[in-house]
Amino acid sequence: MIMVTGGAGYIGSHVCLALLDAGFDVVVVDNLSNSKRTSLDRVQAICGKSLSFRPIDLRDEEAICKTLRDFGVTAVLHLAGLKAIGESNENPLGYYDNNFVGTLRLVSAMKNASVKKLIFSSSATVYGDPAYLPIDESHSLAPTNPYGRTKYFIEEMLRDLHRSDNDWTIAILRYFNPVGAHESGLLGEDPSGIPNNLLPLVAQVALGKRERLVILGNDYPTLDGTGIRDFIHVVDVASGHLSALKHLNDSGIMTVNLGTGTGTSVLQIVQTFESVSGSPVPHTIGERRIGDVAACYADPTLAADLLEWKSTKSLTQMCADHWRWQLNNPNGYHQPSHPSDEPDAPA
Ligand code: UD1
Repeated sequence: MIMVTGGAGYIGSHVCLALLDAGFDVVVVDNLSNSKRTSLDRVQAICGKSLSFRPIDLRDEEAICKTLRDFGVTAVLHLAGLKAIGESNENPLGYYDNNFVGTLRLVSAMKNASVKKLIFSSSATVYGDPAYLPIDESHSLAPTNPYGRTKYFIEEMLRDLHRSDNDWTIAILRYFNPVGAHESGLLGEDPSGIPNNLLPLVAQVALGKRERLVILGNDYPTLDGTGIRDFIHVVDVASGHLSALKHLNDSGIMTVNLGTGTGTSVLQIVQTFESVSGSPVPHTIGERRIGDVAACYADPTLAADLLEWKSTKSLTQMCADHWRWQLNNPNGYHQPSHPSDEPDAPA
């Protein structure tokens, strides 16, 4: 039995689907602060298998410990967390509480329940301003905002934990820019309010929900002056978790980039999206966003070596799948309350 924290979220729901498809039993723990339970209904509808759900906050250590024991959990995939940089600047303590304290409570509960296998969702944001490209895992760590620092401090805590007790097996996965959606068009990113990230904005502009995209700077030292990122299909990110689970016992603790190794500019995204959707993406040029870097993309060699994992999906697929999701779900999951928000009985 695998516990997935944040399993109702954008990446979490795709990870749950990959686990169920691979034959694992899954219990999701999610406080639904930034996700809808509908995503889990859809996961189960797509694969025809069921999972269990517990609406628990990670800081409730006792409830987590009980869930670990009740379900006989053998490994935890920890994806729950807040991830908006601007919000983290305004409310750093809320971020440290939710992300850092939440993880501290989770691993304490795991320790009590003697569950010592963990995969943690970190982010390329821990690298800060790239000193060189592509970024490998030995690049220096200098996150530039509270959100990034919560990820960094959690990583350090997990390394300390492993040093203290090497029965733990831990994989830290540093995601680059997950985008796209499941090819069914049933699962995808459902940001609340105005999205912060590029792809949801581009998709909403293509749909006509927003008038135009503001490209945040076209004077970067890049091929066309716009920012460059390593966009990776969310289904590839999900398969990276399965590979990490398979190879978790190979080394005590590993830290691995999940990226494609290819940089794509904002303008290239706009052009690809226009061509797959057949809809224009009107855009203007605005000021650079504070804290943005010109270019950031992964060296994914270690993931290939340690996890036997590589991304497989093209930029066209990322945009096409994102578009299908947006087109079929113009209001995202749009089910503010789920009729049966009751906990499931243990399997
Ligand atoms: C952002 C976060 C990062 C987080 C990641 C998760 C910031 C500064 N960084 O990364 O910590 O891990 O999301 O997906 O928020 N852009 C526009 N117009 C827009 C929005 C974005 O031109 O309205 C550009 C940005 O300047 C950037 C690119 O699109 O060049 C990607 O932006 P975004 O999707 O926000 O991702 P990151 O900044 O890489």
